[in-house]
Amino acid sequence: MEKRSNFGSKIGAVLAAAGSAVGLGNVWRFPTEVGNNGGAAFIVVYLLCIAFIGIPVMLSEFLIGRHTRANTITAFSKLAPGTWWRLEGVAGVFVAFIILSYYIVVSGWTLFYFIQSVGGQLMADRDYSLVYNDFVTDPWMPVLMALAFMGLTHVIIARGVQSGIERFSKLMMPMLLFIIGILVVCSFSMPGSSEGLRFLLKPDFSKITGSVVLSAVGQAFYSLSLAMGCLCTYASYFRSDTRLPKTAMGVGAIDTSVAVLSGFFIFPAVFSVDSVSVDAGPGLVFITLPSVFNIAFHGVPWLGYVFSGLFYLLLMLAALTSAMSLHESVTAYLLETFSISRKRAAIIVSVACMTLGVACSLSFGMWSHLTLFGMNLFELFDFVSSKVILPLGGIIICLFTGWYLDRRLVENELTNGGTVRFRLFRLYYFIVRYVAPLAIAGVFVQELIA
Ligand code: TRP
Repeated sequence: MEKRSNFGSKIGAVLAAAGSAVGLGNVWRFPTEVGNNGGAAFIVVYLLCIAFIGIPVMLSEFLIGRHTRANTITAFSKLAPGTWWRLEGVAGVFVAFIILSYYIVVSGWTLFYFIQSVGGQLMADRDYSLVYNDFVTDPWMPVLMALAFMGLTHVIIARGVQSGIERFSKLMMPMLLFIIGILVVCSFSMPGSSEGLRFLLKPDFSKITGSVVLSAVGQAFYSLSLAMGCLCTYASYFRSDTRLPKTAMGVGAIDTSVAVLSGFFIFPAVFSVDSVSVDAGPGLVFITLPSVFNIAFHGVPWLGYVFSGLFYLLLMLAALTSAMSLHESVTAYLLETFSISRKRAAIIVSVACMTLGVACSLSFGMWSHLTLFGMNLFELFDFVSSKVILPLGGIIICLFTGWYLDRRLVENELTNGGTVRFRLFRLYYFIVRYVAPLAIAGVFVQELIA
């Protein structure tokens, strides 16, 4: 068996994990959830979920991955041989696969919007709801785009950990942060944007219900790439001197800043273009933003091309670094369990995902009549994974590190064998033992009763 790969540097490890976290979840899904769940109050709950549930769960995943240096399924079997805990790893890999297959659909949309921006078609005064609806219901174009996107992901994963994942993340992440900054400034300068700010900053706590909290927990997990073994797999490539607590906080901070900044960039713009409502759903980013670019750059169309092109390109690249991590968690499992080459493992995953991805894409048009509980296949995958499996997976990971694993093993891994200090260890341990599992379970039960 070949030597197991590692990330070459600590900063590479942080940026790869941040690359996994920052993606469509921040720029596309977060604003959608904020819009559907009442604005500022949701953001407050979301921030609490990130700090008190998300980051501790991330630390748990990190320690499981680095301690075992194996893919997620093997990791659980190594730490708890012959027990049911292994199923958490199995569910993780399976759901990562499901998420990837619908993730590539929206990523494909970003690719299409990028091509349309650069070609100038997007900026020609158009009815953007119509453009969006025509596009997503088309049987061919979105499918082709999703396949092309999957192809890109495949190429990077096939290159391996250092020259694929790490190199690419180091290039992408700084660029991404820069462009978001520019977009925020532009959006604030649009007329009418202050109403959007009010929506984001004036919490109305009467809007918080069980389902709002569940959405916030789900979104926190989704955005941080938790509970499906992605970060566990990445952590298995961390060096032994990487500081896990510092890395987790860095990743959490980057991810949350990008999400909040995206909100600050999208809502002022939504309110200044009055034909779009805040709860426009998955189309929000694809309907609002073109109108915004169109209005903002009316006098100088070429700037509009550049700007919207840049935006969709970066959105696509952010999606790419996240898709890579979903892909890697499945690929690493196949590669290590069946002793096949990386290239072959990657091909199996890509082809299987493409097949399921086509079905997800068609569920917006040709197959939109196939629904379960009123949701099409795409919505069903998103709902089941983020509102059911992710929170459940979070509970299981907490119980595993808090109750099953030996406390010394946990502390040892988080302090690199006692060589670095982790001052908040007791707080962390208390959270994973009691607070996080009870909080998530409570939200679940409340939702079931309601
Ligand atoms: N976090 C990514 C985003 O924000 C998506 C993602 C990657 C993910 N890996 C995951 C979501 C694992 C849930 C579980 O777009």
